[in-house]
Amino acid sequence: MKGLNEYVEKNKERFLDELFELLRIPSVSADTNHNQDMIIAAEFLRNSLEKAGADNVEIIPTPGHPIVYGEKLIDDSLPTVLVYGHYDVQPPDPLELWDSEPFNPVIKNTKIHPEGAIFARGACDDKGQMYMHVKAFEIMQELDALPCNIKFMIEGEEEVGSEHLGDFCRKFKEKLSCDVILISDTSMIAKDIPSITTGLRGLSYMEVEVTGPNRDLHSGVYGGAVANPVNVLCRMIASLQDEDKKITIPGFYDEVQIVSDEERAMMNKAPFDVEAYKKDLEINEIEGETGYTTLERTSIRPTLDVNGIWGGYTGEGAKTVLPSKAFAKISMRLVPSQKSKTISDLFEKHFKSIAPDSVTVKVSHHHGGEAVVVTTDSDEYRAAHLAIEESFGKAPIPQRSGGSIPIVPLFEEVLGAKSILMGFGLDSDALHSPNENYGLFNYYKGIETIPLFYKHYAKLKK
Ligand code: BES
Ligand code: MN
Ligand code: MN
Repeated sequence: MKGLNEYVEKNKERFLDELFELLRIPSVSADTNHNQDMIIAAEFLRNSLEKAGADNVEIIPTPGHPIVYGEKLIDDSLPTVLVYGHYDVQPPDPLELWDSEPFNPVIKNTKIHPEGAIFARGACDDKGQMYMHVKAFEIMQELDALPCNIKFMIEGEEEVGSEHLGDFCRKFKEKLSCDVILISDTSMIAKDIPSITTGLRGLSYMEVEVTGPNRDLHSGVYGGAVANPVNVLCRMIASLQDEDKKITIPGFYDEVQIVSDEERAMMNKAPFDVEAYKKDLEINEIEGETGYTTLERTSIRPTLDVNGIWGGYTGEGAKTVLPSKAFAKISMRLVPSQKSKTISDLFEKHFKSIAPDSVTVKVSHHHGGEAVVVTTDSDEYRAAHLAIEESFGKAPIPQRSGGSIPIVPLFEEVLGAKSILMGFGLDSDALHSPNENYGLFNYYKGIETIPLFYKHYAKLKK
C-alpha cells in the first residue's frame, strides 16, 4: 500500500502518545469503583474514532459497561468488516509485584523486546491491540485507501464475561451486519514466527463453598474429631484428576472432538522449545495430560484448574483454628464440541456426589463460553495470511490458542459472520499478570499489517 510505512514512520510518536493516554485510564471492568473510568475510556475511544474519520460514532449504554460504536460506510457493493475489541482490563493486582505503576505506562527494554516494550495493564490485552485498528483506520482514511466498509464495536465487559454483548448484538443485528469480524486479541508464536489463531478454548467457571461445623473451632479441642472443610476441599479437588492428569468427572470427555493424527502431526510442527519454556517460567519440569505434547495440552485438550482457594487463617503468624468454611474458584477450559452448560452441570453433580457426609457443599456457576475453530479455507483467512506474509516477509502458521473469547461463537450465531483472530501479542506479554507489556515492534507491525488485510480481503471478495 503506497505511503503506508512512511505514514506509520512519521506518526510513530503520536500513535504511542495516544495509546499511553488510553492506558492511563484505569478501566477495570470487574471493580465498580472504576465505573466512571469505564465511561472515560469509552469517551476517549469515541473521540479517537471521530478524529480518525468514523461516522455515527456513539457510546451505547448497556445494563453494564457501555459499548463504543462507529462506522465508515463507503459503498454498498463493498464487503463490510466489523472490528471487535475491548477497552476493559483485568484488575492490576497484586500491585506489589509490578516494577512500575500499572496505569502509568513506561517503555522498557527487555530480552524479547530490545527495542522497547510498553509496560501497563492493558498494554497488550486489549487496549494496545484494539487501538492498532483505530490507527490502521486513520491511515486508510488519510491515504484514501479504505477498500471496505468498516464498523467498530468496542466493548467494556470482555474480562468479566461479556454479559451484555449478546443482547446488544441481537438488538442491533442490522446495524452490526457484516461479512467478517476482525479481532486482534490473541497472540502469535514469536516476533519472527507470525501465526494466525485458528481456535480458542471454551470455558466453564465454577465456585465452590464447603461448610463443616457452624463456627470456627479450636483445632486442639476439636481437631481430629470434626471434619476440617479445608482438608476436605483439598481432598475433593485432588480427586478431580488422576495420575495421568485426566479429569475424573464422569462424562467430561464424552463430547470432546478427537483431532486426527495428521492434524496433530501438523500442529506439532509449530516451533516450540520446551527447555526455553521451562527456563522462562523457572520450573524444573512440565506437567500435563499423559500422551499429549505441550502444544496439544494447551490447545486441543480440556483442562481443570483451581484459580484461587481460601479459608481459615491466612494472616500473619500462626493461629490454631479449625475453620468452618473453605472456598475455591475452579475453571475448566473446553474444546470443541464440549458444551459449557453441560460441563458445568456435570461438575456440580460430581462435586456434590464426592462430598463426605461431614460437610455440606454449595456450587455456583460463573460465566462460561464455547470453544471455536476457524477454517483456513476462506477468503478472510487467506486475506489475513497474505497481509501477514506481506508485512512480515514470512507466511503465518495457523495455531489453535488455549485462551477463550466466549463472544466469538455468539457472533457467528447472532450475526452469521465468522471471525478472524489476527492477534499480534506474545504469550510472554504477561497478560492478566503483573508487568503486562506489549512490544513496540508488535504495536507498529500490527498497525502496518491491518490495512493490508483490508486490501487483500477487498481483492479476494471482488
Ligand atoms: N484476550 C484474552 C483471550 C486470549 C489471550 C486468547 C491470549 C488467546 C491468547 C481475553 O481477554 C481473555 O482474557 N479471556 C478470558 C476469558 C474471559 C471470559 C474472562 C480468558 O481466556 O481467561
Ligand atoms: Mn482480551
Ligand atoms: Mn483478557
